[in-house]
Amino acid sequence: MKKIVILTGAGISAESGLKTFRDSDGLWENYSLEDVATPEAWVRNPKLVQEFYNMRRKDVLNAKPNEAHYALAKLEEKFDVTIITQNIDDLHERAGSTNVVHLHGIITRSQSSINPNLTYPINGWEIGMDEVCELGSPLRAHVVWFGEDVPMIAEAANICATAEIFILVGSSLAVYPAAGLVNYVPHHVTKYIIDPNIPSVNQRGPVVKIEERATKGVPNLVADLLL
Ligand code: APR
Repeated sequence: MKKIVILTGAGISAESGLKTFRDSDGLWENYSLEDVATPEAWVRNPKLVQEFYNMRRKDVLNAKPNEAHYALAKLEEKFDVTIITQNIDDLHERAGSTNVVHLHGIITRSQSSINPNLTYPINGWEIGMDEVCELGSPLRAHVVWFGEDVPMIAEAANICATAEIFILVGSSLAVYPAAGLVNYVPHHVTKYIIDPNIPSVNQRGPVVKIEERATKGVPNLVADLLL
């Protein structure tokens, strides 16, 4: 089976009602990321950070996968598919994708605030300020904050290097190291980019730009690939 590698960003979940980060009225328009998405913020005001992710988790649990998520899951009928997502929602999994690498963690799990390898399922939508890990340290959302390591980045780069088809959906490529993954895709491999505002990528090799919303562009591309 041909290997397809798909890198997704917040744009693929926009039509499921989850805000992106840098579009107008995106999350970073309404919150300063320094106050809610850094280790310093957690030290300074853990309650604000916890509440920010509790609200994000509630939005995720109330959201549903959209036609783009389902179409990517359908690719598994004919291809060896790996989805590398920058998203912390679980919509790819809920749409049926079985091989998803969460570069920036996943909001449906908690993690120990002193050992990121200790992660736990969350029942319900919130982590209480009194909840602690097995080492006795407070639990936080299992997400990668700005300035923290991205433990899966090496594995993700190796996966991109094996791509025979590469698809980028709904990312501004504004944040590294995730944005650098595109450069690991072999130059001869066709890169399909689906986004109403196509981000700039290095033009080496064939690039197919599909200036569409995900729920239109992804099902159409998947239908072509499954022909
Ligand atoms: N369909 C497809 N793409 C869309 C749609 C849509 N309906 N709506 C918006 N987009 C595109 C935007 O044009 C933009 O290119 O989605 C992208 C969203 O970009 P960002 O908000 O920067 O999201 P992302 O690239 O995922 O951010 C990367 O930054 O804040 C951190 O950790 C956070 O994982 C996130 C990372």
